[in-house]
Amino acid sequence: MIKKGNLYFPGKEFKKKALVKSAAIYKEAAKNPIRFWEKLAKGLFWYKKWKKVFSHQPPYFHWFSGGKINITADIFEENRAGWENVKNRVALIWEPEPLEGRERVFTYYQLLREVNRFANALLKLGVKKGDRVGIYLPMIPEVIVSMLACARIGAVHSVVFSAFSPNALRIRLQDTEAKVLITADGYYRRGKVINLKKQADEGVKGTKVRKMVVVKRAANKVEMKKGRDLWWSDIIEKESEKMQPRIMDAEDVLFILYTSGSTGKPKGTVHACGGYTVQAYWTTRWIFDLKPDDIFWSTADIGWITGHTYSCYGPLLNGASFIMFEGAPDWPSPDRWAQVIEKYGVTTFYTAPTAVRMFEKYGKKYLKKHKLDTLQILASVGEPIDAAAWHWYFKNVGKERCPLLDTWWQTETGGILITSLPGIGPFKPTFTGLPFPGTRFDILDEKGKSCPPGKQGSLVLLPPFAPGLLRGVYKNPEKYKKTYWSQYGERIYFTSDSAYKDRRGLIRIVGRMDDVIKVAGHRITTGELESAVNTHPEITESAVVGKKDEIKGEVPVVFVVYKGNKASEVVKKEVVLQVRKQIGPIALPKEVYLVEDLPKTRSGKIMRRILKKLLTGEKDLGDTSTLANPETIKKIKAVIKR
Ligand code: WT7
Repeated sequence: MIKKGNLYFPGKEFKKKALVKSAAIYKEAAKNPIRFWEKLAKGLFWYKKWKKVFSHQPPYFHWFSGGKINITADIFEENRAGWENVKNRVALIWEPEPLEGRERVFTYYQLLREVNRFANALLKLGVKKGDRVGIYLPMIPEVIVSMLACARIGAVHSVVFSAFSPNALRIRLQDTEAKVLITADGYYRRGKVINLKKQADEGVKGTKVRKMVVVKRAANKVEMKKGRDLWWSDIIEKESEKMQPRIMDAEDVLFILYTSGSTGKPKGTVHACGGYTVQAYWTTRWIFDLKPDDIFWSTADIGWITGHTYSCYGPLLNGASFIMFEGAPDWPSPDRWAQVIEKYGVTTFYTAPTAVRMFEKYGKKYLKKHKLDTLQILASVGEPIDAAAWHWYFKNVGKERCPLLDTWWQTETGGILITSLPGIGPFKPTFTGLPFPGTRFDILDEKGKSCPPGKQGSLVLLPPFAPGLLRGVYKNPEKYKKTYWSQYGERIYFTSDSAYKDRRGLIRIVGRMDDVIKVAGHRITTGELESAVNTHPEITESAVVGKKDEIKGEVPVVFVVYKGNKASEVVKKEVVLQVRKQIGPIALPKEVYLVEDLPKTRSGKIMRRILKKLLTGEKDLGDTSTLANPETIKKIKAVIKR
């Protein structure tokens, strides 16, 4: 990499081989973004061409209407790299958590046969086009087979992160009304077997699930309910390896993926077949500069959008080889991830700042044992990557050789929308870079005026948005309108992020403007955590705020108004348990404070902003004129000090 001031540019050698190397692409795209995306769409296989590229009835919009597509045809038989080239190429390499375990490798052809067998089995179970199928699976190849099998027959998959609690699973299954759930007996996490089936049994109570397909992974003892539960291996046994993909409309739903909602009820983001496919293919190709001999590893769990787009669909559409890792990156030792990179000769490594900071804390000594010289590109996602983590990653992992992409996007956007491209740059620590060609972002002030460089405002996406942007919130049009299309009207997509740009137009993301906190990159709302805490019978009220954390970026801190007479240590433990039960272990509170009252406005709104300042010990509490109970401030201060 070449350094110029505080910017980095790709070196000559890298540039020469890069798929995109000329900044002219930005100009070309900006001239006519709709035509630009149309050109990109032509790079994929369609059964029938679209009638209209982009249509807009705010706040709704469509891409490639009238076009007919199936994402699995673009992955397999009609892969743009040529089926004859791709067929016997490695698609997926699965690395199990236990070191003594055996890896599983699937070529494209093998994967296709597995997908077809399972797709045929799903049809036998009565799954039809448009039906929602729940997938509650850990990081094992069957999760990919399940998603692709759904896509193959036109069923809508809804993957639920395997570390979510039964309660979180239930809420999602109730919302989608899925009749079939795919799960596993168990999986390995930090040397232990997690009994996933037991959690699934609990989670399907009160839902419409009538068939549960169970993958045998950990051979732990599970109960199979007669008439409802089926072993995966049994139902695929006699199924044919052949089947034709169902031809889908571009605007048919491909999947629903839930993200944290403001009140405790998660939002089901709806993604469409055509636009998602186009965006997944091209963003993966250009951003990761994927070539046939690359080994791509995105560490994100399949339960998140990063897992969907970059640990499944994106690499597959590109005919690439990618890694799926079952376990925790620092198990059984802190160098496990480096071991995996070395073992498979990973060329492209995509992870989250929280992981980078964790590796940094373990220290460079763990890297010394491993050769990381196959790496070509590093990338980061999920939250702002601070300068220290950026430099550590760039220096010690990429050896100042590899472009470091800071990729910005959201569950809603379906694919990466802001990042510098590896063959062009520039890369500037803490800045995510430029909007992907064909997308138009702006940063607006409160009045909706465009902010000049250096001035912070709301990050928005302007028409024609992006083909992969969500088409709705499942069964909740009101929420869709209110969350994304109300701040600046129905023609401007509001990201909820605050940002500013520099003179070159590089964007720096500052953080969320809403009540979302990012815990180790996981998105969770304070409202969701509060409603979990409030299910405690002796807690009348609670408020959650995010607190800065060295490794996780942010951690939740809970203030509770407790009316029972248990010892405070007991209550604190119960609060943590409550979150684990209602949501899962991803966002356990770091601290719990028992208080008499919470700071509120006259209309009864909790002023979390004040709590946040009290936590950091800030003297200036900002505008407190609307505070109805100023006497609480002193008391809460005392509790925090204790
Ligand atoms: C929010 C979306 C889709 C990727 C996984 C997260 C934050 C995401 C960055 C980045 C700064 C980032 C934003 C965004 N975010 N990437 N590179 N720099 N912030 O998806 O869980 O839907 O969260 O993550 O705040 O709005 P998500």
